[in-house]
Formats: sequence, structure tokens, C-alpha cells
Amino acid sequence: MKIFLDTANLEEIKEAASWGILDGVTTNPSLIAKEKRDFKELIQEICAIVDGDVSAEVISTDFDGMVKEARELARLADNIVVKIPLIKDGLKAVKFLKSEGIRTNVTLCFSPTQAILAAKAGAYYISPFIGRLDDISSDGMNLVKQIVQIYKNYNFETKVLVASVRHPMHVVEAGLIGADVVTMPFKVLEQMIKHPLTDIGLERFLEDWRKAQLELEKKFEKVK
Ligand code: G3P
Repeated sequence: MKIFLDTANLEEIKEAASWGILDGVTTNPSLIAKEKRDFKELIQEICAIVDGDVSAEVISTDFDGMVKEARELARLADNIVVKIPLIKDGLKAVKFLKSEGIRTNVTLCFSPTQAILAAKAGAYYISPFIGRLDDISSDGMNLVKQIVQIYKNYNFETKVLVASVRHPMHVVEAGLIGADVVTMPFKVLEQMIKHPLTDIGLERFLEDWRKAQLELEKKFEKVK
């Protein structure tokens, strides 16, 4: 399973990269807007830090505009994957960009039928948004299950990138289903490390060690 961070924040990306577990980054226009920086400059900095794919999204919604933006984004770094929305012109753009060797991440996927079309167009990644489905009383993880099964049935090469992740159990469930990638906010990545028994266990080990050292010191003092 590959772990991506869903952020455009350089501090979070540097921190996760320093743990040695970061496989990539996904961004979207909302995440970029939060950073109040020049889009292309920021994307280039992210690409230089991350040893893996970095998704950057187009703003256009028509074929020509998407292709133009995608070409510009692809020129920024070798590890760029262009995020394209799941609309008619988006599918056309995905097909065309594939013929030019530009990899795409088809975003805003909320149904298995959309995922089938993205795969047929030649998407490199499909991004089902599970949290946003859960938010409207639907079952986001069931969508991931359906896409993974359908892609397996037909040997589609498109990788399933689980997005709109809200908590660590989303990561566990995506792993059990066999999704290729999970992209998550930094907060969820931090939550994945935490376990109270780890903290309690470590405290106890260190306390026992300290006590034993003190006893040894006392013993040697007596001998002197
Ligand atoms: O980057 C796309 C996706 O992960 C957004 O998540 O939390 O805004 O639904 P969210």
C-alpha cells in the first residue's frame, strides 16, 4: 500500500518525508489556495521534496484548456501527475494526454460507472472520494470495494487512489480491500502512529531501566 499526503503544506510534507514512509502527495485547488503561494512555484518545491508522484490539478473544464494546463504542469517536474475532473471533456483529455505520455489522476469520482470510464480513457489513478460520500449518508468504502473488484475483473491498469480520507480506519479498510494508494491529511498520518499501549509500554520499560541503574549504582558505592 502506498501512502500519500493530501496537502500542499511544505512543513507537513517535509515532516512526513523525514519519517521515511511518504510515497507521494496529492493536492487540489482548495489545498493550494490555503497556502497563499504561487501555484507552480509551490508545486515545484513539493516535487523536489517528494520521492514519488505529486498530483496537481487543472482549473479548466474544457478539453483545450485542460490539455494546455496539463502540458504546462507536466513540464514542471518528472514526478507530476495531472489531476483531471471526472467530466466528459476530462475523459477526452485523459485519453489525449495518455497518448502524449502525461499521467493523469482522475478526481471527484463518486460512482463505479465513473471509475469504469476513467479506466477505459486510460487514467493512471482514479480517486474515489470516500469521506464526502460518508458525509451524505452513503458508503464511501463500498465504492472502493466495487472499483477494486471491477478493475480486477478486467485487468484495468488504473490504480485506485483512495481520497477524502477522514480517519485511520479508512486507511485500514482501504488496505483490507487492496486499494493501491491512500492519500490522507497529515492529522490522519499522525493518528496512525499513536497507540496508548505503546506509550504506556515505553514509559514502563524506561522506568524499569532507570530503577535497575540506580540499584546497580548503589551496589557499586557499597563495594567502594
Ligand atoms: O484531494 C482530494 C480529497 O482528498 C479531498 O478531501 O476532505 O476535502 O473531502 P476532502
